[in-house]
Amino acid sequence: MLREELATLREEALARLGEIADTGALEAWRVEYLGRRGKLTQVLRGIGRLPPEERPAVGRLANALKEELEAALATRQARLEAEAVNRALLEERLDVTLPGRPPEVGHLHLSTQTLRKMYAIFAEMGFQIVEGPEVETDEYNFQLLNMPPHHPARDMWSTFYIDETRLLRTHTSPGQIRVMREFRPEPIRVILPGKCYRYEAVTARSEFMFHQVEGLAIGHHITMADLKGVLIAFARKMYGEERQVRFRCSHFPFTEPSVELDIDCILCGGEGCRVCKYSGWVEILGAGMVHPVVLENGGYDPSVFSGFAFGFGVERPAMMLHRIDDIRLFFANDLRFLQQF
Ligand code: DAH
Repeated sequence: MLREELATLREEALARLGEIADTGALEAWRVEYLGRRGKLTQVLRGIGRLPPEERPAVGRLANALKEELEAALATRQARLEAEAVNRALLEERLDVTLPGRPPEVGHLHLSTQTLRKMYAIFAEMGFQIVEGPEVETDEYNFQLLNMPPHHPARDMWSTFYIDETRLLRTHTSPGQIRVMREFRPEPIRVILPGKCYRYEAVTARSEFMFHQVEGLAIGHHITMADLKGVLIAFARKMYGEERQVRFRCSHFPFTEPSVELDIDCILCGGEGCRVCKYSGWVEILGAGMVHPVVLENGGYDPSVFSGFAFGFGVERPAMMLHRIDDIRLFFANDLRFLQQF
């Protein structure tokens, strides 16, 4: 009787064990068959009711079954664990033959692209590129450009001072003096690009940092006609051959006479729009004949030499050409903006 029960129990237990697929169910199986109140224990309890001569043999059988089931459990457990490891490996599988992800390639900033376009136009006309320092002295930024201390024209440039004598240049014009003092022999034909700084409230129209390009030509018999020729050529190459231009009288302490150059608004073609403030014209630069005092400060005799100078911003033209309505976007480092150009 008991022998048969053990045989049935063995078959049933091994069959159930073979179907188990997760370790949680394994533990339930152990409790059911090998636990203190498990099925095998219950069978073992029945041994006491057997005639004494049968007890040792059945007892051995029962113990053998217990060992067999324990071993089967251990084997099953090891098998399930191995399968779990295999599954994890399969999930993490890496196909080393797949092509890699290409690194993102950057490109030139819109200000740099615009600057390079300007360089190319002036290079064609024989201008050389020279750079001056961003930290300037009050002397170069103002005094040598005909603006002594307390000169009212200084109000045109709100300035970041570093100490009594040094400042962040408010324009690229101090480069004029540096070039005149450092460049011999004449004639001089240079453009001076670079960053400028102004202590100003930042708005959609003005940043505290921006780029300018300065131009300077010095030699014998240079006249206002040369200035006009160069600037009209620049305006048409930069903004379109069909551009209308006009020179307006203006004032700068470092040029005499001084002018400003307007082009017909490229957005509305002169009809009038928000960008040109409904005037049809947009100012693009300041210029003039180099003031005799400035020539002298540069070491050139104004009775022998003459020259012209001009200066313009870089971000505003770029805004006009690309219909950008907020200058702050240039330096906010937002790739969604920068990648459009
Ligand atoms: N430096 C001037 C400014 O920042 C621009 C300028 C005007 C430059 C006239 C010149 C010039 O060289 O002749 O507003």
